[in-house]
Amino acid sequence: MKAVKEADRLYIIAAGTSMHAGFVGKQMFEQLAGIPTEVHISSEFVYNTPVISKKPLFIFISQSGETADSRAVLVKIKQLGYPSLTITNVPGLTLSREADHTLLLYAGPEIAVASTKAYTAQVAVQAVLAAKVAGKTDLDLSRELAIVANVMESITDHKEQYDAIAKDYLTQRNCFYIGRHVDYYVALEAALKLKEISYIQTEGFAAGELKHGTIALIEKGTPVIAIVSQESVNLNTRSNVKEVKARGANTVIISLRSLSSETDQIVIDDVHPLLTPLVTVVPTQLISYYAALHRGFDIDKPRNLAKSVTVE
Ligand code: M6R
Repeated sequence: MKAVKEADRLYIIAAGTSMHAGFVGKQMFEQLAGIPTEVHISSEFVYNTPVISKKPLFIFISQSGETADSRAVLVKIKQLGYPSLTITNVPGLTLSREADHTLLLYAGPEIAVASTKAYTAQVAVQAVLAAKVAGKTDLDLSRELAIVANVMESITDHKEQYDAIAKDYLTQRNCFYIGRHVDYYVALEAALKLKEISYIQTEGFAAGELKHGTIALIEKGTPVIAIVSQESVNLNTRSNVKEVKARGANTVIISLRSLSSETDQIVIDDVHPLLTPLVTVVPTQLISYYAALHRGFDIDKPRNLAKSVTVE
Protein backbone atom coordinates (compact mmCIF):
# COMPACT_ATOMS: atom_id res chain seq x y z
CA MET A 1 0.00 0.00 0.00
CA LYS A 2 2.87 2.35 0.89
CA ALA A 3 4.40 1.77 -2.55
CA VAL A 4 1.14 2.77 -4.23
CA LYS A 5 0.67 5.82 -1.99
CA GLU A 6 4.17 7.06 -2.73
CA ALA A 7 3.79 6.78 -6.50
CA ASP A 8 2.99 9.82 -8.64
CA ARG A 9 1.74 7.53 -11.44
CA LEU A 10 0.86 3.86 -11.78
CA TYR A 11 1.80 1.86 -14.85
CA ILE A 12 -0.29 -1.27 -15.21
CA ILE A 13 1.44 -3.81 -17.44
CA ALA A 14 -0.47 -6.87 -18.63
CA ALA A 15 -1.76 -8.89 -21.57
CA GLY A 16 -5.15 -10.19 -22.72
CA THR A 17 -7.77 -10.57 -20.04
CA SER A 18 -5.41 -9.31 -17.35
CA MET A 19 -4.95 -6.11 -19.34
CA HIS A 20 -8.72 -5.68 -19.57
CA ALA A 21 -8.90 -6.05 -15.79
CA GLY A 22 -6.16 -3.41 -15.64
CA PHE A 23 -8.33 -0.95 -17.58
CA VAL A 24 -11.04 -1.35 -14.95
CA GLY A 25 -8.40 -0.97 -12.23
CA LYS A 26 -7.24 2.30 -13.78
CA GLN A 27 -10.72 3.67 -13.23
CA MET A 28 -10.55 2.65 -9.57
CA PHE A 29 -7.06 3.97 -8.84
CA GLU A 30 -7.95 7.29 -10.46
CA GLN A 31 -11.46 7.73 -9.08
CA LEU A 32 -10.94 6.34 -5.59
CA ALA A 33 -7.30 7.10 -4.88
CA GLY A 34 -6.72 10.00 -7.29
CA ILE A 35 -3.53 8.47 -8.72
CA PRO A 36 -3.00 8.92 -12.48
CA THR A 37 -2.80 5.45 -14.01
CA GLU A 38 -1.77 4.16 -17.41
CA VAL A 39 -2.44 0.69 -18.79
CA HIS A 40 0.00 -0.82 -21.26
CA ILE A 41 0.11 -3.94 -23.40
CA SER A 42 3.21 -5.67 -22.09
CA SER A 43 4.49 -6.79 -25.50
CA GLU A 44 4.35 -3.17 -26.74
CA PHE A 45 5.73 -1.44 -23.66
CA VAL A 46 9.02 -3.29 -23.67
CA TYR A 47 10.07 -2.13 -27.15
CA ASN A 48 8.22 1.20 -27.27
CA THR A 49 8.61 2.58 -23.77
CA PRO A 50 6.87 5.90 -23.06
CA VAL A 51 8.30 8.76 -21.00
CA ILE A 52 8.07 7.63 -17.38
CA SER A 53 7.05 9.85 -14.47
CA LYS A 54 9.38 10.80 -11.58
CA LYS A 55 7.98 8.33 -9.02
CA PRO A 56 6.30 5.50 -10.89
CA LEU A 57 5.06 2.21 -9.57
CA PHE A 58 4.76 -0.63 -12.06
CA ILE A 59 1.88 -3.02 -11.43
CA PHE A 60 2.06 -6.35 -13.24
CA ILE A 61 -1.26 -8.16 -13.50
CA SER A 62 -0.95 -11.80 -14.48
CA GLN A 63 -3.10 -14.78 -13.62
CA SER A 64 -0.27 -17.24 -14.26
CA GLY A 65 2.61 -15.09 -13.08
CA GLU A 66 4.58 -16.49 -16.01
CA THR A 67 3.69 -14.34 -19.02
CA ALA A 68 6.93 -13.73 -20.93
CA ASP A 69 5.83 -10.41 -22.43
CA SER A 70 5.18 -9.00 -18.96
CA ARG A 71 8.38 -10.47 -17.59
CA ALA A 72 10.39 -8.69 -20.29
CA VAL A 73 8.97 -5.39 -19.00
CA LEU A 74 9.74 -6.33 -15.40
CA VAL A 75 13.36 -7.07 -16.30
CA LYS A 76 13.62 -3.73 -18.11
CA ILE A 77 12.07 -1.56 -15.39
CA LYS A 78 14.18 -3.27 -12.71
CA GLN A 79 17.29 -2.33 -14.69
CA LEU A 80 15.99 1.23 -14.66
CA GLY A 81 15.57 1.02 -10.87
CA TYR A 82 11.77 1.41 -10.69
CA PRO A 83 9.62 -0.32 -8.02
CA SER A 84 7.15 -3.06 -8.91
CA LEU A 85 4.13 -4.93 -7.62
CA THR A 86 2.74 -8.15 -9.10
CA ILE A 87 -0.93 -9.07 -8.75
CA THR A 88 -1.16 -12.79 -9.50
CA ASN A 89 -3.08 -15.95 -8.83
CA VAL A 90 -0.08 -18.26 -8.65
CA PRO A 91 2.35 -17.59 -5.81
CA GLY A 92 6.06 -18.11 -6.17
CA LEU A 93 6.29 -17.92 -9.95
CA THR A 94 8.50 -15.59 -11.96
CA LEU A 95 6.54 -12.34 -11.89
CA SER A 96 5.91 -12.51 -8.16
CA ARG A 97 9.42 -13.74 -7.30
CA GLU A 98 11.08 -10.96 -9.25
CA ALA A 99 8.83 -8.02 -8.29
CA ASP A 100 9.34 -5.99 -5.10
CA HIS A 101 5.81 -6.75 -3.85
CA THR A 102 3.12 -9.35 -4.54
CA LEU A 103 -0.64 -9.36 -4.02
CA LEU A 104 -2.35 -12.72 -4.42
CA LEU A 105 -5.78 -13.18 -5.98
CA TYR A 106 -6.74 -16.38 -4.13
CA ALA A 107 -9.14 -17.19 -6.98
CA GLY A 108 -8.25 -20.89 -6.83
CA PRO A 109 -6.58 -22.75 -9.69
CA GLU A 110 -7.79 -21.70 -13.13
CA ILE A 111 -7.80 -24.77 -15.34
CA ALA A 112 -9.50 -23.65 -18.55
CA VAL A 113 -7.42 -21.55 -20.94
CA ALA A 114 -10.07 -18.81 -20.96
CA SER A 115 -9.59 -16.68 -17.89
CA THR A 116 -12.83 -15.96 -16.03
CA LYS A 117 -12.64 -16.05 -12.27
CA ALA A 118 -9.13 -14.58 -12.40
CA TYR A 119 -10.57 -11.55 -14.22
CA THR A 120 -13.16 -10.88 -11.55
CA ALA A 121 -10.60 -11.48 -8.80
CA GLN A 122 -8.15 -9.09 -10.50
CA VAL A 123 -10.81 -6.39 -10.62
CA ALA A 124 -11.84 -7.01 -7.00
CA VAL A 125 -8.25 -6.96 -5.70
CA GLN A 126 -7.57 -3.68 -7.49
CA ALA A 127 -10.74 -2.24 -5.93
CA VAL A 128 -9.55 -3.30 -2.47
CA LEU A 129 -6.09 -1.83 -3.05
CA ALA A 130 -7.45 1.45 -4.46
CA ALA A 131 -9.92 1.76 -1.55
CA LYS A 132 -7.17 1.07 1.02
CA VAL A 133 -4.95 3.72 -0.56
CA ALA A 134 -7.87 6.17 -0.66
CA GLY A 135 -8.41 5.74 3.10
CA LYS A 136 -11.69 6.94 4.53
CA THR A 137 -14.29 7.49 1.84
CA ASP A 138 -18.04 7.09 1.54
CA LEU A 139 -17.53 3.73 -0.11
CA ASP A 140 -18.08 0.74 2.20
CA LEU A 141 -16.25 -1.69 -0.06
CA SER A 142 -16.87 -4.88 1.95
CA ARG A 143 -20.59 -4.22 1.87
CA GLU A 144 -20.54 -3.38 -1.84
CA LEU A 145 -18.53 -6.50 -2.69
CA ALA A 146 -21.00 -8.63 -0.72
CA ILE A 147 -23.78 -7.15 -2.88
CA VAL A 148 -21.72 -7.98 -5.98
CA ALA A 149 -21.37 -11.61 -4.84
CA ASN A 150 -25.15 -11.93 -4.42
CA VAL A 151 -25.83 -10.36 -7.80
CA MET A 152 -23.29 -12.69 -9.45
CA GLU A 153 -25.08 -15.64 -7.93
CA SER A 154 -28.45 -14.46 -9.21
CA ILE A 155 -26.95 -14.09 -12.71
CA THR A 156 -25.68 -17.65 -12.71
CA ASP A 157 -29.11 -18.85 -11.55
CA HIS A 158 -30.50 -17.97 -15.00
CA LYS A 159 -28.17 -19.89 -17.28
CA GLU A 160 -30.95 -20.83 -19.71
CA GLN A 161 -31.20 -17.15 -20.68
CA TYR A 162 -27.57 -17.02 -21.87
CA ASP A 163 -27.92 -20.37 -23.58
CA ALA A 164 -30.90 -18.98 -25.55
CA ILE A 165 -29.06 -15.78 -26.50
CA ALA A 166 -26.06 -17.77 -27.74
CA LYS A 167 -28.39 -19.99 -29.78
CA ASP A 168 -30.70 -17.30 -31.18
CA TYR A 169 -28.32 -14.41 -31.78
CA LEU A 170 -24.83 -15.81 -32.36
CA THR A 171 -25.68 -17.41 -35.67
CA GLN A 172 -23.11 -15.63 -37.82
CA ARG A 173 -19.34 -15.63 -38.20
CA ASN A 174 -19.03 -12.27 -36.48
CA CYS A 175 -20.31 -10.31 -33.49
CA PHE A 176 -19.80 -6.95 -31.79
CA TYR A 177 -19.79 -6.00 -28.14
CA ILE A 178 -20.21 -2.28 -27.55
CA GLY A 179 -20.18 -0.02 -24.51
CA ARG A 180 -18.97 3.31 -23.22
CA HIS A 181 -16.96 4.21 -20.11
CA VAL A 182 -16.17 1.04 -18.10
CA ASP A 183 -18.67 -0.84 -20.25
CA TYR A 184 -16.21 -0.39 -23.10
CA TYR A 185 -13.55 -2.22 -21.09
CA VAL A 186 -16.01 -5.03 -20.40
CA ALA A 187 -16.88 -5.10 -24.11
CA LEU A 188 -13.18 -5.73 -24.86
CA GLU A 189 -13.08 -8.60 -22.40
CA ALA A 190 -16.42 -10.03 -23.56
CA ALA A 191 -15.19 -10.00 -27.16
CA LEU A 192 -11.92 -11.73 -26.29
CA LYS A 193 -13.78 -14.44 -24.38
CA LEU A 194 -16.24 -15.08 -27.19
CA LYS A 195 -13.60 -15.25 -29.92
CA GLU A 196 -11.13 -17.39 -28.02
CA ILE A 197 -13.54 -20.22 -27.24
CA SER A 198 -16.24 -20.04 -29.94
CA TYR A 199 -14.03 -18.75 -32.82
CA ILE A 200 -16.70 -16.20 -33.74
CA GLN A 201 -14.88 -13.11 -34.97
CA THR A 202 -15.82 -10.59 -32.31
CA GLU A 203 -14.84 -6.98 -31.78
CA GLY A 204 -15.18 -5.05 -28.53
CA PHE A 205 -15.86 -1.46 -29.45
CA ALA A 206 -16.33 1.91 -27.83
CA ALA A 207 -19.98 2.45 -28.76
CA GLY A 208 -19.44 6.04 -29.90
CA GLU A 209 -16.53 5.08 -32.15
CA LEU A 210 -18.53 2.67 -34.33
CA LYS A 211 -19.89 5.41 -36.57
CA HIS A 212 -16.34 6.49 -37.42
CA GLY A 213 -15.89 3.55 -39.75
CA THR A 214 -16.68 0.16 -38.29
CA ILE A 215 -20.44 0.59 -38.63
CA ALA A 216 -19.80 -0.25 -42.30
CA LEU A 217 -19.54 -3.90 -41.21
CA ILE A 218 -23.05 -4.00 -39.77
CA GLU A 219 -25.48 -5.82 -42.03
CA LYS A 220 -28.71 -7.73 -41.68
CA GLY A 221 -28.46 -10.12 -38.75
CA THR A 222 -25.08 -8.96 -37.37
CA PRO A 223 -25.21 -9.60 -33.62
CA VAL A 224 -24.43 -6.49 -31.54
CA ILE A 225 -24.44 -6.85 -27.76
CA ALA A 226 -24.44 -3.58 -25.80
CA ILE A 227 -23.53 -3.16 -22.15
CA VAL A 228 -25.23 -0.37 -20.22
CA SER A 229 -24.17 0.07 -16.61
CA GLN A 230 -23.29 3.76 -16.31
CA GLU A 231 -25.94 6.42 -15.99
CA SER A 232 -23.78 9.12 -17.60
CA VAL A 233 -23.66 7.23 -20.91
CA ASN A 234 -26.90 5.22 -20.79
CA LEU A 235 -28.71 7.29 -23.41
CA ASN A 236 -25.65 7.64 -25.64
CA THR A 237 -25.10 3.89 -25.80
CA ARG A 238 -28.79 3.31 -26.44
CA SER A 239 -28.69 5.73 -29.33
CA ASN A 240 -25.72 3.77 -30.76
CA VAL A 241 -27.81 0.62 -30.43
CA LYS A 242 -30.56 2.32 -32.47
CA GLU A 243 -28.00 3.24 -35.16
CA VAL A 244 -26.91 -0.37 -35.64
CA LYS A 245 -30.45 -1.68 -35.40
CA ALA A 246 -31.46 0.66 -38.20
CA ARG A 247 -28.77 -1.02 -40.32
CA GLY A 248 -30.13 -4.50 -39.66
CA ALA A 249 -28.21 -5.61 -36.54
CA ASN A 250 -29.75 -8.09 -34.11
CA THR A 251 -29.19 -6.29 -30.85
CA VAL A 252 -29.04 -7.48 -27.26
CA ILE A 253 -28.81 -5.09 -24.31
CA ILE A 254 -27.28 -6.07 -20.97
CA SER A 255 -28.24 -3.38 -18.48
CA LEU A 256 -28.40 -2.56 -14.81
CA ARG A 257 -31.93 -2.63 -13.41
CA SER A 258 -32.03 1.09 -12.54
CA LEU A 259 -31.07 1.97 -16.13
CA SER A 260 -33.02 -0.76 -17.89
CA SER A 261 -35.78 -0.42 -20.40
CA GLU A 262 -38.56 -2.97 -20.90
CA THR A 263 -37.07 -4.46 -24.03
CA ASP A 264 -33.58 -5.13 -22.60
CA GLN A 265 -32.83 -8.83 -22.86
CA ILE A 266 -30.56 -9.14 -19.78
CA VAL A 267 -31.23 -7.04 -16.71
CA ILE A 268 -28.85 -7.22 -13.75
CA ASP A 269 -29.55 -6.00 -10.22
CA ASP A 270 -27.73 -2.82 -9.31
CA VAL A 271 -24.28 -2.71 -7.76
CA HIS A 272 -22.02 0.26 -6.96
CA PRO A 273 -21.18 2.10 -10.25
CA LEU A 274 -17.42 1.47 -9.82
CA LEU A 275 -17.98 -2.27 -9.45
CA THR A 276 -20.32 -2.91 -12.40
CA PRO A 277 -17.59 -4.66 -14.48
CA LEU A 278 -17.65 -7.46 -11.89
CA VAL A 279 -21.26 -8.27 -12.72
CA THR A 280 -21.74 -7.22 -16.35
CA VAL A 281 -18.92 -9.53 -17.43
CA VAL A 282 -20.64 -12.65 -16.06
CA PRO A 283 -23.45 -12.89 -18.66
CA THR A 284 -20.86 -12.36 -21.40
CA GLN A 285 -18.73 -15.22 -20.06
CA LEU A 286 -21.78 -17.47 -20.00
CA ILE A 287 -22.81 -16.43 -23.52
CA SER A 288 -19.30 -17.39 -24.70
CA TYR A 289 -19.54 -20.72 -22.91
CA TYR A 290 -22.85 -21.60 -24.56
CA ALA A 291 -21.75 -20.34 -27.97
CA ALA A 292 -18.74 -22.69 -27.83
CA LEU A 293 -20.89 -25.53 -26.49
CA HIS A 294 -23.41 -25.17 -29.33
CA ARG A 295 -20.58 -25.30 -31.86
CA GLY A 296 -19.17 -28.43 -30.27
CA PHE A 297 -15.76 -26.99 -29.39
CA ASP A 298 -13.53 -27.93 -26.48
CA ILE A 299 -14.30 -25.07 -24.11
CA ASP A 300 -11.39 -25.71 -21.74
CA LYS A 301 -8.75 -26.11 -24.43
CA PRO A 302 -9.39 -23.78 -27.37
CA ARG A 303 -7.20 -24.25 -30.41
CA ASN A 304 -3.86 -22.47 -30.78
CA LEU A 305 -3.84 -21.28 -27.15
CA ALA A 306 -1.97 -22.17 -23.98
CA LYS A 307 -2.81 -21.30 -20.39
CA SER A 308 0.54 -19.61 -19.81
CA VAL A 309 2.18 -17.76 -22.65
CA THR A 310 5.83 -18.21 -21.81
CA VAL A 311 7.34 -17.05 -25.09
CA GLU A 312 7.62 -13.47 -26.33
O1 M6R B 1 -1.45 -15.33 -17.12
P1 M6R B 1 -1.73 -13.95 -17.65
O2 M6R B 1 -2.87 -13.29 -16.96
O3 M6R B 1 -0.52 -13.08 -17.65
O4 M6R B 1 -2.14 -14.19 -19.15
C1 M6R B 1 -2.39 -13.11 -20.00
C2 M6R B 1 -3.16 -13.56 -21.21
O5 M6R B 1 -2.41 -14.47 -21.96
C3 M6R B 1 -4.50 -14.21 -20.81
O6 M6R B 1 -5.26 -13.35 -20.02
C4 M6R B 1 -5.29 -14.61 -22.05
O7 M6R B 1 -5.70 -13.44 -22.72
C5 M6R B 1 -6.46 -15.49 -21.66
N1 M6R B 1 -6.42 -16.70 -22.42
C6 M6R B 1 -7.77 -14.85 -21.87
O8 M6R B 1 -8.82 -15.69 -21.50
